[in-house]
Amino acid sequence: MAAKTCILQISIFFLLPLANSIHFKYPTVFNFGDSNSDTGNLVSAGIETLAPPNGQSYFKTPSGRYCDGRLIVDFLMDAMNLPFLNAYLDSVGVPSFQRGCNFAAAGSTILPASPTSVSPFSFAVQVSQFLRFKARVLEILAKGKKFEKYLPTEDFFGKGLYMFDIGQNDIAGGFYSKTLEQILASIPTILAEFETGIKRLYDQGARNFWIHNTGPVGCLTQNVAKFGTDPSKLDDQGCVRAHNQAAKTFNLQLHALTKKLQGQYTDANVTFVDIFSIKSNLIANYSKNGFEQPIMACCGYGGPPLNYDSQISCGQTKVLNGSSVTAKGCSESSAYVSWDGIHYTEAANQFVSSQILTGIYSDPPFSDQMPFLLDLKF
Ligand SMILES: *[C@@H]1O[C@H](CO)[C@@H](O)[C@H](O)[C@H]1NC(C)=O
Ligand SMILES: *[C@@H]1O[C@H](CO)[C@@H](O)[C@H](O)[C@H]1NC(C)=O
Ligand SMILES: *[C@@H]1O[C@H](CO)[C@@H](O)[C@H](O)[C@H]1NC(C)=O
Repeated sequence: MAAKTCILQISIFFLLPLANSIHFKYPTVFNFGDSNSDTGNLVSAGIETLAPPNGQSYFKTPSGRYCDGRLIVDFLMDAMNLPFLNAYLDSVGVPSFQRGCNFAAAGSTILPASPTSVSPFSFAVQVSQFLRFKARVLEILAKGKKFEKYLPTEDFFGKGLYMFDIGQNDIAGGFYSKTLEQILASIPTILAEFETGIKRLYDQGARNFWIHNTGPVGCLTQNVAKFGTDPSKLDDQGCVRAHNQAAKTFNLQLHALTKKLQGQYTDANVTFVDIFSIKSNLIANYSKNGFEQPIMACCGYGGPPLNYDSQISCGQTKVLNGSSVTAKGCSESSAYVSWDGIHYTEAANQFVSSQILTGIYSDPPFSDQMPFLLDLKF
């Protein structure tokens, strides 16, 4: 316990000057992705509901996020001095979309949604939603000033940051019906679809792209539970090797695509962010990073070693085997990397965002684009 407190304090002291020194100049953020950055779309769409203890560590209510608290995107918005992103589909409470709009929805894939997929909001649909959003904003602004304070101005669309964190469900979802070889062979098709979406945004004036690669999906409790029952399939960290190999191959090709786009779009900033390395480091060096459980889910059912049962999700109560059981939260979620077996805890998300904000996991590194970072004092 004492060691953990000490580590936490060091990381807080390390973080504060950093967060204060970064002066991102983006007036607005448009985000596209899956549950890693969904701030309420799938829930607003009425497709899923989230019960407590989701949200317990920060919002005190499930808040549409698959987490006990804030997501990586929430910490990044904070660092940019912008409010949390409202979900595009959240229609109640007159949400302001002036400083950003979130199109990410849990379960989404880059490829068109299959009939069995949780989310119909695949990447192309999210891009179409954005185009509709932009057209509506310009139409409403042209009519007068009534909704001005809720909407981005026309120039925000060119100056804004376009963030992407999608592909995890294409890769991890593939393993339910395909072999590793088939998944590897499908990656160019997945990325061609991604490139089409990026190009549609560029053609509409988007100029600042920030692309997250996909994490070590083989370390997600859900995948360890389903695909890791044979220990020979696991690596030293207890992660499913095939899943991580697919994620690495996807990331190599995604990186190559971002280099190509950097070359093609000479009037744009295309930044690649290596989430895989940050999350792998977190899991491999969990104890040094202040965590006690790298794989076991905090909120789940079944107890150690995984505390995960695919039949019952975090917060749910169900009759299993004739008795009523509940997937409950653990007592100290900040000691866990995994919140519900599929998504990271707020503590893990905070670690990942602090690492993103060092700039060293980006290509090009932030410091190349943002000279003010050189003023950092540690
Ligand atoms: C790229 O980023 C730099 C630094 O933030 C900024 O000065 C420049 O305007 C950006 N380029 C575009 C096309 O927005
Ligand atoms: C874990 O930490 C060590 C020492 O800092 C580092 O060399 C290693 O690369 C880390 N592991 C991962 C997977 O990043
Ligand atoms: C149901 O109960 C049987 C007998 O006790 C047990 O073998 C089995 O693992 C249980 N299944 C689940 C899903 O708990």
